[in-house]
Amino acid sequence: MDNRTNTIAGWVLGACGVALGLGIVGGMVYHTGVPEKAGFPIEGAEAEGGAGAAEVPIATLLASADPAKGADVFKKCTACHTIAQGGANGIGPNLYGTLGEGIAEGKAGFAFSDALKSHGGKWGFDEMNAWLTSPRKFASGTKMTFAGLGNAQDRANVIAYLNQQGSNLPLPAAPAAGAPAAADGKADAKAEGNATAAAEPAKGAAPAPAAPAPAPAANAH
Ligand code: HEC
Repeated sequence: MDNRTNTIAGWVLGACGVALGLGIVGGMVYHTGVPEKAGFPIEGAEAEGGAGAAEVPIATLLASADPAKGADVFKKCTACHTIAQGGANGIGPNLYGTLGEGIAEGKAGFAFSDALKSHGGKWGFDEMNAWLTSPRKFASGTKMTFAGLGNAQDRANVIAYLNQQGSNLPLPAAPAAGAPAAADGKADAKAEGNATAAAEPAKGAAPAPAAPAPAPAANAH
């Protein structure tokens, strides 16, 4: 009994020391350094750090999105953005044809922030959804001083509207609940596509903060 308690206490102390020493990297150290069976509330902390992505998929919302309502939502954007073809850049860049385009590219010389320029990739539906949820989380240091649209249906509507303005990308297929279409051998390609999409948000997300060290005495058993 005593030995085991000491071992666990040792792990805790060790993990604390390493986490403190390594700062952000501490999150990773926790995963490898703490034995799972000790029962510390690491899982909960991790779920909290990674939360936010587990909403209704944007593809599902887009299937029922209403571009006319999106035009209404877009009024929140017009202080800084035009969207007509050839419209002028203002505080923000003209947004005609932005969906499907490279992130922070083009737009007649608009001076994008380094934060957004260094993001890379294209404005797909998932990227746009993440951006409009929280520009700051998507590209920390962005010049777009807009808090974000908290309502997912608002986002889907405005994305549907954006898509109509010069982009006209095919809407993503809403994921079927049971994925019944696996019989035709295309399941692999589909799964790959999904995996890539799922990995995207993680790239932009900040690493989960190291969980505060639990009080050793309270949790040792
Ligand atoms: C307060 C001004 C402001 C508001 C309001 C605003 N934006 Fe922006 N937006 C900007 C700025 C500035 C940038 C350039 C960001 C950068 O370079 O970091 C930008 C960039 C963007 C981009 C990237 C364009 C590209 O070519 O990469 C998109 C898309 C966008 N905004 C959409 C929206 C939408 C949709 C809304 C409304 C829901 C909105 N913005 C509201 C200022 C604003």
